[in-house]
Amino acid sequence: MLATSAFDIQPTTASRLAELDPNNMVFGQLFADHMLAAEYVDGAWQSARIVPYGPLQISPATSALHYGQAIFEGGKAYRQADGSVALFRPDANWQRFNVSAARMAMPEVPEELFMQGLQELLKLDAAWVPGVPGSSLYLRPFMFATDGFLGVRPSATYHFGIITCPVAAFFNQPLRVRFEQQYVRAAPGGAGYAKNAGNYGAAMLPTKLAQDQGYHQLFWTDASEHQYIEESGAMNVMFVLNGVLTTPALSTSILDGITRRSVLQLARDWGVPVEERRVSSREIIEAVQNGTLTEAFGVGTAATVAPIATIGHEGHDYSLPALAPDAFARRVGAALDAIRTGQAPDPHGWMVAVNG
Ligand code: PLP
Ligand code: COI
Repeated sequence: MLATSAFDIQPTTASRLAELDPNNMVFGQLFADHMLAAEYVDGAWQSARIVPYGPLQISPATSALHYGQAIFEGGKAYRQADGSVALFRPDANWQRFNVSAARMAMPEVPEELFMQGLQELLKLDAAWVPGVPGSSLYLRPFMFATDGFLGVRPSATYHFGIITCPVAAFFNQPLRVRFEQQYVRAAPGGAGYAKNAGNYGAAMLPTKLAQDQGYHQLFWTDASEHQYIEESGAMNVMFVLNGVLTTPALSTSILDGITRRSVLQLARDWGVPVEERRVSSREIIEAVQNGTLTEAFGVGTAATVAPIATIGHEGHDYSLPALAPDAFARRVGAALDAIRTGQAPDPHGWMVAVNG
């Protein structure tokens, strides 16, 4: 057990809070005053500390830089209607972090270090949680291999950190997304279900090529037939097809999104029919053409609920109908916002108060 006193806390003497303009936040640019850091040495996590945000010193041979043992999480803390601060499903981030760690042959992070660490960090940086609608403090736990050794084997030492940054909604316009049927994000048996840095590095070229063509994101498709939708950028994807909320079933090549889980739970609570199954590009294009596809949207921590307006397939762009005022994507986005900001009851116990 890590008691609170297990964290060595060094508060900053030079807060940068005055640099925060809640009406003009660029995702991932300005970081809150403090960060958590801990080292894994000799088979145990040591010297957990909360210190002013700043550079880390690493060896040029740091194995994460060469061989990619690096993982991260993404979560959010929200300003509550009563002025307090609460985290959305941080326990799910902790569990998935350790799933990613296991896949990358990295050590698990104990619950106390992750959860208590978030609490201590958020207590110090509570003033960094913005309150304007749609905003939050993005939480970025991460771990990387720190051995200064070029032998190819799991590192013996690791750094665990948490940094945070105030953010607004990630996408501010309906998305243009095209099917990717050449490049592959992840294959069965690979590491697509883990949140390891390499998945994002390998996605950059195909994503850039799509962006150069005027799209925001890709629909990744399966590695063998390039037909079945996997996910999109940093989002899981959902469709309303014939009134059924339809989303690709999870697999070893898809990230088990916490927003995805939450949206499916709310849909089931509301009695909306839900299907988790394979969804092909052909099915989606036919459904756009015959009018049975009424909604397409991405769901993710950074992206929240992001409506898709245009789908590109084999060189053609297909426009989706405008979202109705009572569209599922709108209703579920608003319901999640209300739970996250303490304006609606939290029947599933998703919110964790920061005990400041
Ligand atoms: N898929 C990928 C590849 C992601 O990076 C993310 C973002 O975290 C998601 C899906 C959505 O997951 P979550 O809702 O847990 O943020
Ligand atoms: C998240 O939603 O936390 C993500 O992973 C998005 C990030 C890659 C920008």
